[in-house]
Amino acid sequence: MLSHLLHLQGIESVVIEDRSRQHVEERVRAGVLEHNTVELMRQAGVGERLDREGLHHDGIYLSFNGERHHIDMMDLVGRSITVYAQHEIIKDLIAARLAAGGQILFNIEGLKLQGIDGAQPHQPSLQFTHEGEPCEIVCDFIGGCDGSHGVCRPAIPEGVLKIYEKTYPFAWLGILAEAAPSCKELVYTYHDRGMALFSMRSPEVTRLYLQCAPGEDLAQWSDDRIWDEMLLRMTTKDGWAPNRGAVIQRGVTGMRSFVVEPMQYGRLYLAGDAAHIVPPTGAKGLNLAMADVVVLARAMAAFYRESAEAGEALLRAYSETCLKRVWRVQRFSSWMTHLLHRFDSARGFEYRRQLAELDYLVSSRAAMTSLAENYAGLP
Ligand code: PHB
Repeated sequence: MLSHLLHLQGIESVVIEDRSRQHVEERVRAGVLEHNTVELMRQAGVGERLDREGLHHDGIYLSFNGERHHIDMMDLVGRSITVYAQHEIIKDLIAARLAAGGQILFNIEGLKLQGIDGAQPHQPSLQFTHEGEPCEIVCDFIGGCDGSHGVCRPAIPEGVLKIYEKTYPFAWLGILAEAAPSCKELVYTYHDRGMALFSMRSPEVTRLYLQCAPGEDLAQWSDDRIWDEMLLRMTTKDGWAPNRGAVIQRGVTGMRSFVVEPMQYGRLYLAGDAAHIVPPTGAKGLNLAMADVVVLARAMAAFYRESAEAGEALLRAYSETCLKRVWRVQRFSSWMTHLLHRFDSARGFEYRRQLAELDYLVSSRAAMTSLAENYAGLP
């Protein structure tokens, strides 16, 4: 998206990726798009398939004590969400870049960053191997959009970044199932045995998650055991439950909150998971990454198209501008996580407090509005 936004401003960029095109186009990841992200895709001219195939949701359900409660975000805040898989966005963006003659180098190896401290007269450069050939790109800026395990963040000298982090004592076991979604919207369930989440990827594919132990061994989970546990947690008193189907993918996702400050060093600008991780409960990771690159593209556009001075001012403000949203989203994701997961194994104080919070949430329009404005995405 950064490369595409720069292209729209007439600014040249090269995307380098260490996986194959097929890998990035097929790897199933997030899927809930905030209103802002949908608008961004449209405004950037890459929203056509999203508008055709995305599943528009007016709200979400919160389920506890065997009852589903609807949070109608459209009614509460006039904004909502769209389910459209991250790898579909990636396909659309790759296609748009290639159609415009943009350069994306897949399968690169041995990436090293140099000269990122911004000290003149050296320019930043990237060295790597592509199709067996040593390559070097000399550039003005590096966008570090390479995720939490990438090489960009570790290229920043020790002592520069302050790290804020929190690890949760549970994980999510997630599956994709060949089953028609039995509900039009997402259902977040709070249950004695832990959180469960009903989601979807298409009219034929259901996506389900359940709270599990951090190091959960998937070998211990047969399809039958997964379905029994999903249905036990999710089935409501009125008989609603997800449809069963063949499990076509499974995985365990860790739960972490993580932020580095600042999100920049010299001419290297970190964006998305390279700079911050949210637990998946609020469905915010992808949306936050999109928000970062909008800020970065705007600053770079000012640098090239207005004046170096105006651009430098926006680039200097990049980290602070992004971190404001990052921390608000961290707050919301952490709140959703604490709302819906089992923290104490006994039915202790936390358990009763959470039930009271859920009860308050579904009975107060003010509380629901707060959830809705954050979930649909802060302006
Ligand atoms: C998903 O569909 O993968 C999904 C939905 C909502 C979440 C997290 C993941 O909070």
